[in-house]
Formats: sequence, structure tokens, C-alpha cells
Amino acid sequence: MIGTEQIIEITYLVATALFILSLKWLSSPSTARHGVRAGELGMLLAVGGTLLHHDIVDYKWIAIGLVLGTIIGVPLGKVQMTAVPQRTALSHAFGALCVTLVGTAEFYLRAPDVPRFMMAVLSMEVILGSLTFTGSLMAAGKLQEILPQRPITYRGQNIVNLSLLAIAVGVAAYLVLHPGQTQYFPAVVGIPLVFGVLMIIPIGGADMPTVISLLNSYAGLSAAAMGFVLDSKLLIIAGALDGASGFILSVNMSKAMNRSFSNVLFGAFGQEQAAGAAVQQAQPVRSATAEEAAAILAAANKVVIVPGYGMAVAQAQHKVRELYDALTKRGVDVKFGIHPVAGRMPGHMNVLLAEADIPYDKLLDMEEINGDFPQTDVALVIGANDVTNPAARNDASSPIYGMPILDVDKARTVMVIKRSMSPGFAGIDNPLYYLDKTLMLFGDAKSFVGALVRELAGGQS
Ligand code: TAP
Repeated sequence: MIGTEQIIEITYLVATALFILSLKWLSSPSTARHGVRAGELGMLLAVGGTLLHHDIVDYKWIAIGLVLGTIIGVPLGKVQMTAVPQRTALSHAFGALCVTLVGTAEFYLRAPDVPRFMMAVLSMEVILGSLTFTGSLMAAGKLQEILPQRPITYRGQNIVNLSLLAIAVGVAAYLVLHPGQTQYFPAVVGIPLVFGVLMIIPIGGADMPTVISLLNSYAGLSAAAMGFVLDSKLLIIAGALDGASGFILSVNMSKAMNRSFSNVLFGAFGQEQAAGAAVQQAQPVRSATAEEAAAILAAANKVVIVPGYGMAVAQAQHKVRELYDALTKRGVDVKFGIHPVAGRMPGHMNVLLAEADIPYDKLLDMEEINGDFPQTDVALVIGANDVTNPAARNDASSPIYGMPILDVDKARTVMVIKRSMSPGFAGIDNPLYYLDKTLMLFGDAKSFVGALVRELAGGQS
């Protein structure tokens, strides 16, 4: 007969395997849906197994927690795709608050006899949990524009911030040696709460997605530390997976923007360029109507579509699919060039285009597509800006200098769908728009692509 303990162990084992498979599958668009399902099933098993635990003497509070979590979680799951970064930050905030509260309860339950190793991991859990809680709330507030996006800096800021963190770690170290001095424990929770706020203040809104990914990694590490405190192997493994994947993701995002990690965290990016954006260049641009643009597209052999944040905001992906169908039907070779940080979150464009059932083999990464642009008749940029900005390649004074870009300016003709001459997320002008080969197609991405589709269909539909 299998006892409850064995059932719990088996569910945890299967859940762990599912978490690992989930991460593996999430790394490719063609298997990403399986990845999401595997992660969901793993979490269901983990929660289900935990509910069987013999230490649970009363289910009342758990039931209240489940109901409250569902009431908060269901609407959070329904936010617009463009709001997913701030929604993810809120999830980290809740997770980190939970870890901090559990750590605090464990300390007071065990004090004054807290073994040294236990006190050390408990401190790590609580410090990371508290700073992730307030840091994630700040990051969500900046992205939602409830808080100012602009970095706020002052002299000696990094020294003040790092000193605060050092004090919290110092107090924690003292408690490792003297766990009976419980009066110092609030400092181990309180100082990182303040640090979390101060850590985000000097970081510009443009860097929030990278920071959120880093906070994700802190939340994972704090959960792994909680796993040691609660003696839960599942938490240790899931936390370590979360911590490692969040860290790798933030490093990859920094690389895709050609920024160092320390530049993201301490560089106050977004400050000078906000001022620079005010000096809009008053140069002439060439624009075209949907009718003219459709005629050029219809005459092309090879078209590369480059989507960006504007396509996501306009929810234009289904119209883009119709455009892909209309052009392919006419024998035009259509591919998509995907920049790793196009949009506002990793994989943003892949998710949207997959939702519109664009074949995966037509979605090419930046390295794969860049060599094709010189042989491309038309590069059609739909709501992308920074990721196509040649200043990143040519202008050493540009704040995005060195960021790898999609070389759309090397195509024979460039067409750009956007509503105005406003800058993108980095807040800087784009010299692409002033080239002789560039045609600006002013309008909302969804309606303009819709108009192109109608023109290609001969004015019907
Ligand atoms: P952006 O440079 O932000 O440009 C988006 C453009 O879309 C804007 O210039 C805007 O121009 C246009 N737009 C907005 N709404 C539109 C609509 N309804 N219809 C048509 N166009 C619309 O986007 P991008 O090229 O995708 O670059 C992403 C930026 O985010 C980069 O700077 C990147 O470093 C940053 N970032 C991304 C990530 C991730 S993980 N994706 C992480 C950190 C930072 P108008 O207002 O004139 O329409």
C-alpha cells in the first residue's frame, strides 16, 4: 500500500520534472504551448501534494487563501498582452511578500534556538523577499505609469543604497551568531523593504522589463532559501529553476540591448535621451497612402515584415496574418524579422504572431534575417522603432549605440507604419525615417495593415 507520504513524494517528483520540461519547451515557439501546460500541471500537482501534508491540522485558512488568491488572480490573468510585464511584477511582489511573511513566522516560532545554518538561509530568504516585494511594486508602478518613468538620481545614491543593504546583511550576520537577540530581526525585514524602493528609483522605465526579470530571479532565490527553512525539496528545486532562468533572461536582454548589467542597474538610462527627444529634428520625410504602398508590395518578390511594440498595442497581428496571406497568394516571398527585445517583454512578437497562426518557419531571429536585407525588395516595419534605428550602428554618441539592430535600412525600399514621428521606448529620433528609400505610412498599425489588405484584394473585403 502506498501511504500519503509516498503520494506526496511522487507528486513532487512529477511536478519537478514538469517544471524542467516546461522551461525546456518554453524556449522554442513551436513547443511553447506545451511548456505553459506543463508548468500549469506541475504547479497544480505541487499545490495538490502540499494539501495532503499531515502537518495541516485545519484547512480553514488555506481555503480562505485559495478563495482570495482566485479573486485576485483571475482578473490579473486577463490583462492586455502589453501589460504583462507589470502584471508579472505584481506576481513577484505577491510571491516575495509570501516568502517574507513565512520567513518571519518561522523566525519567531523557532527563536531563540535557531541553528546557524537555518538563521543564515532564513535571513537570505527574508532579505531577498522584502527587497523583491517593494522593488517589484515600484517596477509595476513605473511600467503602469502610476509612478514617474524617469530615473531619479542624486549624488552618492549608489553608496547610500549599497550601504543600506550592507547594514541589513550585517544585522543578519549578527543574528546568525546571536539568534536570541530577536529585537534586531525587524531590521532584517525593514531595511530591505526600503532598499527595494530606493533600488528602483534611479532606473528608467525603459529598463523595467530587464529589472523585472532580475527581480524574478531574486524571488526564485528567496523561495529556494525558504525551501531550506521548510525542508521542502520541491521549493528548493523550483526556486533554483526560477532564480537561474530569471537571471539568464536578464543577462540575455541586457546583451540584446548591448548594455552591461551594471549599466542597467546603475546607469540611469532614459535620463539624457528624454531631454534629447525634445529636440525633434524638423527634416522632411516621404509618406505614402495605403494604395501606393500596396502597389509597391504587390510588385515585390521578397518582403520582410519587422513587427514591434506598435503592432502589439494596436493588436494588429491578425491583420498582419491577412497581409501575409494576401502577399503569399500573389507569389511574394514573405518572412518576419524578429528582434530579441522588440516589444516590451521577451518573446513578445513570437507570442503575438503565433496567436495569429503565422508559420513558425517564417519567423526568423535577427542573426538569421540580417543577411537577407540587401536582397529584400521591401522591409515593412510595423510599429517597430528602436530595434530598427541605424544610429545604434553608426552614431557613437547615440544612447543606444552598439545595440544590435535589424538592418532594415539595407533593403531596397523601407516602409514604416506608425502614427506619427514620435520616438520609441528609448526616447530618441530615428534617422531611418529620413532616408530617400523610406516611405512613412502614417496611421494605426491595425487600420493601416487592414487598408493594405483591402487594396491588395482589389478594394473588396
Ligand atoms: P519602440 O522603439 O518602443 O517603438 C514602438 C513604436 O510603435 C513607436 O515609435 C510608436 O510610434 C509606434 N506605435 C505605438 N502605437 C502604435 C499603433 N497603435 N500603431 C502603429 N504604431 C504604433 O518599439 P520596438 O522597436 O519594438 O523596441 C522595443 C524597445 O523596448 C527597445 O527600446 C527595447 O530596448 C525596449 N525594451 C524591450 C524589452 C523587451 S524584453 N522586449 C525589454 C527592455 C526594453 P507612434 O507613437 O508614432 O505611433
